[in-house]
Amino acid sequence: MCGIMGYVGHRNVVSMLVDGLRRLEYRGYDSAGIAYFEEGEIEVKRSVGKLSSLEEILPPLPPDSPSGIGHTRWATHGKPSEENAHPHRSGSLVLVHNGIIENYISLKKGLLEEGHEFVSDTDTEVVVHLIDSIYQRGGSLETAVKNALVQMHGSYAICVLSEKDPERMIAVRSGCPLVIGLGKDECFVASDIPAFLSHTREVVYLEDGEIALLSAKGLEVLDFKGARLSKESQKISWNPVMAEKGGYRHFLQKEIHEQPRAIVDTIRGRVAQEEGEVILGAAEINEAVVKRCKRVVLVGCGTSWHAALVGKFLLEEIAGLPVEVDIASEFRYRDPHLSSEDLVIGISQSGETADTLAAIREAKSKNTPTLSICNVVGSSISRETDTVFYTHAGPEISVASTKAFTTQLTALTLLAIHLGRRRAVLSKEKAQEMIHHLILLPKQIEEILRHEARIEDIAKRYFRYRDFLYLARGLLYPVALEGALKLKEISYIHAEGYPAGEMKHGPIALIDENMPVVILATKDKVYGKVISNVMEVKARGGMIISFAEEGDTDLASISDEIFFIPKVSPSLSPILMTIPLQMLAYHISVTRGTDVDQPRNLAKSVTVE
Ligand code: M6R
Repeated sequence: MCGIMGYVGHRNVVSMLVDGLRRLEYRGYDSAGIAYFEEGEIEVKRSVGKLSSLEEILPPLPPDSPSGIGHTRWATHGKPSEENAHPHRSGSLVLVHNGIIENYISLKKGLLEEGHEFVSDTDTEVVVHLIDSIYQRGGSLETAVKNALVQMHGSYAICVLSEKDPERMIAVRSGCPLVIGLGKDECFVASDIPAFLSHTREVVYLEDGEIALLSAKGLEVLDFKGARLSKESQKISWNPVMAEKGGYRHFLQKEIHEQPRAIVDTIRGRVAQEEGEVILGAAEINEAVVKRCKRVVLVGCGTSWHAALVGKFLLEEIAGLPVEVDIASEFRYRDPHLSSEDLVIGISQSGETADTLAAIREAKSKNTPTLSICNVVGSSISRETDTVFYTHAGPEISVASTKAFTTQLTALTLLAIHLGRRRAVLSKEKAQEMIHHLILLPKQIEEILRHEARIEDIAKRYFRYRDFLYLARGLLYPVALEGALKLKEISYIHAEGYPAGEMKHGPIALIDENMPVVILATKDKVYGKVISNVMEVKARGGMIISFAEEGDTDLASISDEIFFIPKVSPSLSPILMTIPLQMLAYHISVTRGTDVDQPRNLAKSVTVE
């Protein structure tokens, strides 16, 4: 985790760093720090807590500095403290790091023997001392960095600055994201694009094993052996306003409201309604892979895993393929049986989740074709899979995933229709009908969003309860999991999602007059059984908050609260049902006064195991 940022150029370095780090805080926010030049010497400022604490100790009139680096931390080695905050220093060098250096203990031992002194518990401090130890023996900083890299094991993105060369900085990527922004007479480096999006859209993605030399004159990229590489820059389409709050109180609320637009962008250019076809374009799967495919394996973490659970229903029913779903962090450890007749699909908003990336690598090591469903263009997962289906949800800043989830579900629906047609198991008429419903979806979401006040009202009545149970069946069961995850991660209320039929096998013991039970139900083949579950909860004094299709008077008559979603085809009900659950979690959290966009202990991209 952690966000790193570097700037070299003509603008005020301190404000550029602070501004960039603010947009990277979603990656970690237990401490922050920056390094810049003041009268030829490097000044380091660090502080525990969020960026606002750091800002309090920064000079009111920042000096002119040719370059600088910054960091916002999510602790791995060493508790959040000023000593453990980055940048770390050794001799004339300062360094920021994202990732983990696995052999830092043995490296530290050698450096201690050489006489180096350490002030933090971090693996990062070892890296700056290692580079410095080599640098002090003579030669260029770039050679010192290169020679240090061969001794380091683990995953990292680092950025180094030397007091001896203030107009240049060096950044390295090996396993953690790093992207370069190119401006006029200036260069940026950051863990993610929003850090510099308001200044440039011209980007170069660093690959693993690449070293970037940045100066106001431009960028040079080398491989770890020092050979010069030629890299193409790309113009990204995100605009800075997309990464701002746009008048909403929180990024989370903004991102919930962006879902109609985000889904339009996921569908855009991918459907031919009259022909009943889904065109994947750049995400097209090789013909031989489709022909050979006997099974799909979906992997992801957190919310993306919930999307995978819905994806199983969609792909099995629409594309007629057997599907397995794995939590990415478990996948490689059970030595999964994989072959070239499988297709492994990694689902990830960030495209940087270490476990999902490792699952993809596991599949590739067994010659299994891979595809990713990903939001962040150019991310590691998108580059390592054979094919990538971008969701185009735009930057998701709030730590809790919202639009990423519903666009993943949209992508999975499109993929299922596409595969169903290519495998000749889905008729043209059925595909036309499904596409028609997909196209209506954004308007239906807008309709739900118009009733936010009703959700706020429910939130105000239930925000004091300590436990919530979310029950649903079939395709809506993963949505119950997702609703519960949203509530627990942003409001810190304990919440569980359960398949409604499982309630009587244990969770029913929890039900009493202090347990709100959220019910998700549409009028499908198990509707009657869900009604029975509701009666069982009521008989034990539990409160019922139902989310149902409009016109469902039966459920309304036995619920304490009811919120209606528009009528929708069954395969799309997970998308619509998710929206009010996101709003419920949001308003409960706002009422409880928690930090909605940056909940405690979490980070947006989990780039460590
Ligand atoms: O970027 P990814 O989709 O791979 O992230 C996976 C999870 O870390 C993520 O969904 C996490 O569970 C969110 N906090 C959920 O809101």
